[in-house]
Amino acid sequence: MAITRRKALITGASGGMGKACARLLGTTQDLVLTDASPRLAQFAEELRAEGYTVTGAHQGDLGNEALLQAIMADMRSGLPLTLIHTAGLSPSLAKAGPIMQVNLVATVRLLDAIEPLLRPGAAAVLIASSAGHLMPQIPEAAALMADPLAPDFMPRISALIDGMAQGDAEKAGGISYSLSKQAVLALTQRRALAWGPLGARITSISPGMILTPMGQKEAQTSGGAAMQNAAPLGRPGVANDIALAAQFLVSAEASFISGCDLLVDGGSIAAFRQGAAKIG
Ligand SMILES: NC(=O)c1ccc[n+]([C@@H]2O[C@H](COP(=O)([O-])OP(=O)(O)OC[C@H]3O[C@@H](n4cnc5c(N)ncnc54)[C@H](O)[C@@H]3O)[C@@H](O)[C@H]2O)c1
Repeated sequence: MAITRRKALITGASGGMGKACARLLGTTQDLVLTDASPRLAQFAEELRAEGYTVTGAHQGDLGNEALLQAIMADMRSGLPLTLIHTAGLSPSLAKAGPIMQVNLVATVRLLDAIEPLLRPGAAAVLIASSAGHLMPQIPEAAALMADPLAPDFMPRISALIDGMAQGDAEKAGGISYSLSKQAVLALTQRRALAWGPLGARITSISPGMILTPMGQKEAQTSGGAAMQNAAPLGRPGVANDIALAAQFLVSAEASFISGCDLLVDGGSIAAFRQGAAKIG
């Protein structure tokens, strides 16, 4: 008799954390993978050759509606699903606008698309960032970011970020990243309210400095170096630190955990909060 397994959708699946999550979750669940990178097809083939079940590998921009529909068609199984959303852009990789589009707007579109498939037992983890914890709350930004699908969202948030950065494009990228991740923390709380009555859970993880391809670039910046040096545990994180935390958060052992964020940062945020380290 065939064993029916849950399906896990991993976004950013050919990135550092995405790969680690696919390898770990893929031991017990069938995988649906997506990433903008053309490296995705090769990674999916590697996994299949190693015995993993990959039912779909969808290459493209997560903001693309047709791509989302194709992914969701692949996710239909009647069983509770798993979502690990790692796709994202950081200031070393992109400018302020695309960072906000991918980290927040595409995240909201993804959650909207997956909601009709939620069943009791479904669980999602969004990857936020410790940067979202360090950013002070800006009520005007928070109000705008509560509705990122509004037609005037991008011009309005871009104007706010440009004003804060005073024309410094590098600074604007950092502000956009921190705000977008702060918005993911709030989004997790809001969706937990909507998903709870469906028996579905949603949480987020805020990584500190994790030496993935993105993390290696960020570690060269003053902010990234400060994050890494702040960790009382005295080491940067590895992608599997995030995958192991995500595996717990989507497991039955975490069945009373929803609407909250887990810092996986080696203690960096605690060090900043306690005044034991300075932001770069
Ligand atoms: N690495 C760190 O130190 C660190 C720290 C805090 C938060 N994060 C967050 O963790 C998540 C995973 O990052 P990572 O370190 O694995 O980075 P990574 O760059 O290795 O992987 C990210 C993946 O997202 C994909 N992606 C980017 N834009 C996309 C789009 N529009 N559509 C589809 N896919 C897209 C990229 O192709 C890439 O494969 C990100 O959201 C990042 O912001 C990372």
